[in-house]
Amino acid sequence: MGSAVAALLFFSIIFVNLIPTSPMKEQRPFQVADEGGWVALGKSRKRIIPVLHTQEPSPIFEAYSYCNIPNHTEQAWEGHSPPDYKLLSVQVMIRHGDRYPLYSIPKTKRPAIDCTLSTSRQPSHPLLNSFVTHMGQGGHGHWKPPLSSVSRFPNHSECEIGELTQTGVVQHLRNGQLLHNAYKHHSLLPINWSPRQVWVETTGKSRTLQSGLAFLYGFLPNFDWTKLSVNHQWSTLFCGSTCDCPARNRYLEDEQRRQYQLRLANDNLDKTYADMARTLGLPTRQLRAANPIDSLLCHLCHGLPFPCVPPGDSGTGGCLTMAQFAVIRQQQLDDEADRRRVGLYRKYATLAMYPYLNRTAAKMERVAKASESGRQPRVGGEEVFSLSSAHDVTMAPLLSALGLENARFPRFAARIVFELWKSPAVVQGQAKKRAKNGEKSKSRDGDFFLRVLYNGEDVTFHTAFCHSHDRYMSQPLCPLGNFLTFVRRDMFSTVNATSYKEACYRPSG
Ligand SMILES: *[C@@H]1O[C@H](CO)[C@@H](O)[C@H](O)[C@H]1NC(C)=O
Ligand SMILES: *[C@@H]1O[C@H](CO)[C@@H](O)[C@H](O)[C@H]1NC(C)=O
Ligand SMILES: *[C@@H]1O[C@H](CO)[C@@H](O)[C@H](O)[C@H]1NC(C)=O
Ligand SMILES: *[C@@H]1O[C@H](CO)[C@@H](O)[C@H](O)[C@H]1NC(C)=O
Repeated sequence: MGSAVAALLFFSIIFVNLIPTSPMKEQRPFQVADEGGWVALGKSRKRIIPVLHTQEPSPIFEAYSYCNIPNHTEQAWEGHSPPDYKLLSVQVMIRHGDRYPLYSIPKTKRPAIDCTLSTSRQPSHPLLNSFVTHMGQGGHGHWKPPLSSVSRFPNHSECEIGELTQTGVVQHLRNGQLLHNAYKHHSLLPINWSPRQVWVETTGKSRTLQSGLAFLYGFLPNFDWTKLSVNHQWSTLFCGSTCDCPARNRYLEDEQRRQYQLRLANDNLDKTYADMARTLGLPTRQLRAANPIDSLLCHLCHGLPFPCVPPGDSGTGGCLTMAQFAVIRQQQLDDEADRRRVGLYRKYATLAMYPYLNRTAAKMERVAKASESGRQPRVGGEEVFSLSSAHDVTMAPLLSALGLENARFPRFAARIVFELWKSPAVVQGQAKKRAKNGEKSKSRDGDFFLRVLYNGEDVTFHTAFCHSHDRYMSQPLCPLGNFLTFVRRDMFSTVNATSYKEACYRPSG
């Protein structure tokens, strides 16, 4: 890779009319998969800006991108840096891959999907068989309770509720392999990595645990189980022991009220649910409660026709339609726009994701300190790679808390990557002179920088802590210090506070 042409190929998979332009052309509102990021390649940096498309993406088109069907080569900008920069650490959060619905539509047949893994079924992956074999040896890994009782790969001929599908496994084998290739020249992990250098955590759901393992297998094929610990996060917010935050819950309740009011005000949505309920012969309320969009999305992602029912005593019979699907999906897109406009979700997200971000910042700072010249390396090394296998309700607030408000809602197998880089050491101006006079030459240690990527796209300069290009023009990447200050103080400005504690425990009203 390494040219704007590669970027063009990538983006043209999604949108057709793209042109590369020179840097600093224009600042436009950020939309993931809609705008090229900074691409640092060799000595030049190119900005790739697609032509504005005036049409909004249709809800159907958008739903397919949510499915994230692994049928094309994906371009990833992970691992790109100015020359001579050293990659110190990578922290990844993934959303689980494609799954079976969590809800079923009453009176209809469940979608017929096989959740066993087989290379004779599409989509498949060259690593699929060896993945299954390797998972069979998982007993040698260290599993924090209650994870040891969760199966390590899907294996039901009729998928269970919420079970990861083969598509989901393949999505993450590909993600892991993508990052394997992106980082292999950066010697992020030594061949004989130590247990402390790799951190893996997941919620207790089989789909997140299995997604995490598929990702890890793609990233570190045939990894040594005896060195691996899999840690458990009981909260979908990955907030560990600092989950308690009364104000966060208040913001969430306010946000849910907003969402409810918006739905109530949508007559077209009401009418659509009523039509669907009439077809199936159900009370409208029962249909709404069954969250039919979840099951319909699964049908769409798997190329299955929407469910049909014969006419009965209560229903007219017939099939659920793409038009009905589009109405519900459009309402979800409108809801995302309204959510951004109102801003309550951002406040919730700030408090929800602080513990995770605080941990991320602390890890980076530790690795950065350890890399300073003259330091004795810690026995067993530092944690240089971490993987958090999570849910949409983890990733959506993380994006919002980072100020990536216009990012698309996390699709299946979405990924957010934090990279920590160190610039080359600088020999200071006077050093040569002093050396001549017999003084010790002094070189300044390199500086630390951060990159943030969402689904392979560099979004660093869209984050709240680095979005002002002008201010950082002299810096090729975003200084780590910006991120640290943001996490430890500035992010709380969204809730008019300067710390987590203050924001969480301030009296309401
Ligand atoms: C991948 O699948 C999607 C959805 O079925 C389809 O729209 C798209 O054209 C496919 N892409 C390729 C490269 O086959
Ligand atoms: C998957 O499940 C089937 C049926 O329960 C079982 O026979 C088979 O051994 C399982 N596969 C693996 C690799 O564990
Ligand atoms: C934030 O991280 C620091 C370590 O850098 C830790 O001591 C502190 O307890 C963390 N705070 C919260 C609320 O997670
Ligand atoms: C923000 O907090 C300060 C001090 O806690 C308070 O005086 C001020 O009124 C608050 N502003 C808003 C807009 O709530």
